[in-house]
Amino acid sequence: MALLFMGISNSTGAEFSNLETNKLGVYAGSESCRDCHQTDYDLWSHSHHALAERPVDAKLDQAAFAPTQTILHAGQTNAIRIQNGEYQIVTLGLESNMQPFHVERVIGREPLIQFITPFPGGRYQVHEASYDIVSNQWFYVYGDDIRNPGEYGHWTGRGMNWNSQCAECHNTGFRKNYDAATDSYHSTLAEMGVGCEACHGPLKSHVEWQYAHPKSTTPDPTISHLQPSRIVGMCGSCHSRTTDLTDHFEVGASFYDQYWLDILDSSEEWYPDGQIKDEDYEFVSFISSKMYQAGVTCLDCHNPHSAKNSFTGNQLCMRCHGGGFPKAPVINIAQHTHHELTDHGSDCIGCHMPVTVYMQRQPRHDHGFTIPDPLLTKELNIPNACNRCHDKQTTDWAINYTKQWYGTNMDRSTRNRARWIAAAQSGDQRVENHMIGLLEETNQGPYWQAVAAGALGQWSDTQAVQDALLKGLKNKHPLIREQSVRALESSINDTNIRAALQPLLHDPTRNVRIAVAWTLRASLDLQTRGSFDLQHMFALEDDQPVAQFQWANFLLARQQPAEALNHLEKATLWDPISPPFQCAHAEVLDQLGQTDKAITILKQEEQALPQSQEASNVLAKILERHNRDHAPTGNAQ
Ligand code: HEC
Ligand code: HEC
Ligand code: HEC
Ligand code: HEC
Ligand code: HEC
Ligand code: HEC
Ligand code: HEC
Ligand code: HEC
Repeated sequence: MALLFMGISNSTGAEFSNLETNKLGVYAGSESCRDCHQTDYDLWSHSHHALAERPVDAKLDQAAFAPTQTILHAGQTNAIRIQNGEYQIVTLGLESNMQPFHVERVIGREPLIQFITPFPGGRYQVHEASYDIVSNQWFYVYGDDIRNPGEYGHWTGRGMNWNSQCAECHNTGFRKNYDAATDSYHSTLAEMGVGCEACHGPLKSHVEWQYAHPKSTTPDPTISHLQPSRIVGMCGSCHSRTTDLTDHFEVGASFYDQYWLDILDSSEEWYPDGQIKDEDYEFVSFISSKMYQAGVTCLDCHNPHSAKNSFTGNQLCMRCHGGGFPKAPVINIAQHTHHELTDHGSDCIGCHMPVTVYMQRQPRHDHGFTIPDPLLTKELNIPNACNRCHDKQTTDWAINYTKQWYGTNMDRSTRNRARWIAAAQSGDQRVENHMIGLLEETNQGPYWQAVAAGALGQWSDTQAVQDALLKGLKNKHPLIREQSVRALESSINDTNIRAALQPLLHDPTRNVRIAVAWTLRASLDLQTRGSFDLQHMFALEDDQPVAQFQWANFLLARQQPAEALNHLEKATLWDPISPPFQCAHAEVLDQLGQTDKAITILKQEEQALPQSQEASNVLAKILERHNRDHAPTGNAQ
């Protein structure tokens, strides 16, 4: 079926006729809703969603670019200027000299914005030089981290490529359309920014039906109402860190049919009590909260159209915690907060939604609604909200006050949960039974069951853990099934486990099918549903070195080193300093008899990244084997 999207380079947000997708319907564009939904339109048009991406605009961007300014960064002098009407950033690109780059688009709204420049091959790249609109200052989004041309994370590299890294969350109806043969993009989008149909799905048929049936009393057959249970996942499609499993988000479909979700695991993107550490957005912390379990949604606090809070200050929380909502504990503000009602110390969100700053400038509120617990700071170095504000006071000071004010209420099940998870992360098997309990216990919610399953993977050789994980494969929640599958990977040589996994290649939810296909990769039947889904996922991410690396690992598991080599060559070309990629590349070359080349690569890697031991270890291994194979035999004459 034909794709009738307009090319992105000339979409201005004004003309939206005949935008078509092959299976999800046709987009009409937000402008077309205005006639009939004026109120929603007005709220939305001023929202950060509407402005999530836009063309450069004289009114909005003049202040950042004029008068010309120069900035010294990482030993280079960059200029920001308007030249013959063109907005430019003068910086180091792929060439060795400074060049002017035409800034075509802006991404983000407040407090910071970033700038996009078109490159050959349908690419768009995001500059590292960024602008703080609140303090009217240019700054560098990586801070002091210096990245060089040719590196993955340099602004000209694949890590800062708009088509693969930014576009889908900041726009509506985006398709990447990467062409591997030419290493180029034919990306399309329905509308720049997060428009009405990013959340409601394509609605051209609705617009047409409404105009054809004015004042109709029969219900509109073209409109599918958002299922309440799917709304949080819809918001989550952009407000979380995920791996895409399909090429586009389908509003109303199951979240897990479309994404692998990053959750609390040993990678330390979260603290063990669920607080955000890396840039984790809001969805995951929210689904880890008790409030989500009790049925609270994003819309209880945010108007979806303005994206602003529906009430200000403590009123937002007291609407329910003042006694108005079933099961919500009733809070007496003065007694509960122990702070003067006139200062920010009594703000509910100060203690329950502590702030972390990302991208150098953007403060984000934790959506896990955790309890401030300085004792966990003392024991496990998990930050607590009290000392985030009272940063001159010690942890013990805060412990004393929380004890005095809240007494035994501080001894919550969530505190022990954090302790067990931290212990499991450090490999302490004494908490095995607690983690099995967490996996099996339903009252903390599926999120924590899934976290427990993941953490148990390290002990999947013990019978009790295996039994619990095998039960996890049958759980009704797809995230728990997925994590149980992953956790069984290290026991994949066990025929019983392989047999238990096999049927899940046809699991109803895609995240599970792909996880199983990956886990069974060495012996995977390529004609199964899970295998098709896995290959589709790889193909989607074909422009990224990580996907090339995963492809290679898949082929290596299937004893196809020559085929794997092609993928590793791409991975190392696109991300030349990653130790895992270079080491895998060298090992495969060695396996294919190209030992000299392998050794050269590893020596280069040692020089490029002297602080990483990885290349040296592989080099030692290869040299040892090499010397052994070529050593003179004992009875040589
Ligand atoms: C010609 C007028 C008209 C246009 C144009 C129009 N709508 Fe509607 N829309 C309506 C009417 C009338 C209803 C109520 C229909 C019903 O409940 O059967 C409605 C219902 C809806 C609903 C469902 C509301 C609910 O109660 O759940 C959504 C969502 C919606 N429209 C979104 C949009 C979007 C997005 C656009 C633009 C792409 C759009 N509409 C364009 C007239 C219009
Ligand atoms: C298509 C992706 C997408 C979807 C779906 C989406 N958002 Fe967003 N949201 C964004 C992006 C991107 C931003 C940042 C906009 C900017 O400043 O550039 C954002 C910003 C926000 C903000 C901050 C607004 C502000 O004024 O600071 C809130 C709140 C928010 N979204 C809530 C929601 C909720 C609630 C939902 C679901 C009803 C939702 N979002 C769905 C992409 C999305
Ligand atoms: C997974 C979806 C997603 C991707 C991918 C993504 N963003 Fe965002 N971005 C968001 C959301 C959601 C927000 C709103 C902040 C929040 O959720 O806390 C945001 C906020 C921003 C902001 C700050 C605007 C503000 O709120 O002040 C900028 C700038 C930004 N993104 C730029 C980028 C760039 C550049 C890329 C690609 C390198 C990118 N984003 C990739 C979802 C995404
Ligand atoms: C960030 C996601 C998001 C965006 C963007 C968005 N909506 Fe909505 N909209 C929602 C959600 C969520 C609901 C609530 C649905 C429910 O409660 O069943 C909603 C409700 C509605 C409703 C029914 C209730 C009401 O408020 O009238 C209409 C009509 C509607 N939206 C139209 C629009 C139009 C028109 C636009 C663009 C101008 C738009 N929406 C943009 C998420 C969004
Ligand atoms: C729509 C109603 C609603 C709103 C609005 C609401 N809450 Fe809640 N909240 C609940 C319910 C229900 C629970 C009880 C969950 C449970 O224990 O099963 C809860 C529980 C909590 C908890 C206990 C968490 C734990 O681990 O024990 C905290 C803390 C909390 N809310 C803080 C807030 C804050 C802060 C706000 C405002 C930003 C807020 N709530 C707004 C309904 C709400
Ligand atoms: C100074 C820090 C602080 C502030 C401000 C604060 N809380 Fe709390 N909150 C705590 C602590 C500590 C606990 C755990 C001890 C307890 O339950 O008494 C807690 C527990 C809770 C609980 C769980 C109660 C239960 O019975 O399980 C809810 C609900 C809650 N807070 C809501 C709120 C709301 C609503 C506000 C704003 C009016 C607020 N909190 C302001 C520190 C604070
Ligand atoms: C219980 C209330 C509550 C719920 C539920 C809630 N939020 Fe928020 N959210 C807030 C508050 C309060 C802020 C801080 C607003 C401010 O200070 O301007 C916030 C801020 C945000 C921001 C701006 C960045 C930041 O962290 O300050 C985004 C984006 C956001 N929320 C998205 C979401 C999404 C998506 C969901 C659902 C997955 C959600 N929120 C659920 C209360 C809530
Ligand atoms: C959002 C910031 C914020 C948070 C979070 C916060 N406070 Fe405060 N706190 C204040 C402010 C503001 C005051 C009043 C000014 C002052 O006296 O320092 C204050 C005053 C106090 C005081 C009295 C003055 C003093 O320094 O002896 C104590 C004790 C205190 N807080 C303890 C705590 C404890 C314990 C927690 C965590 C449960 C906590 N605060 C969380 C901001 C905060």
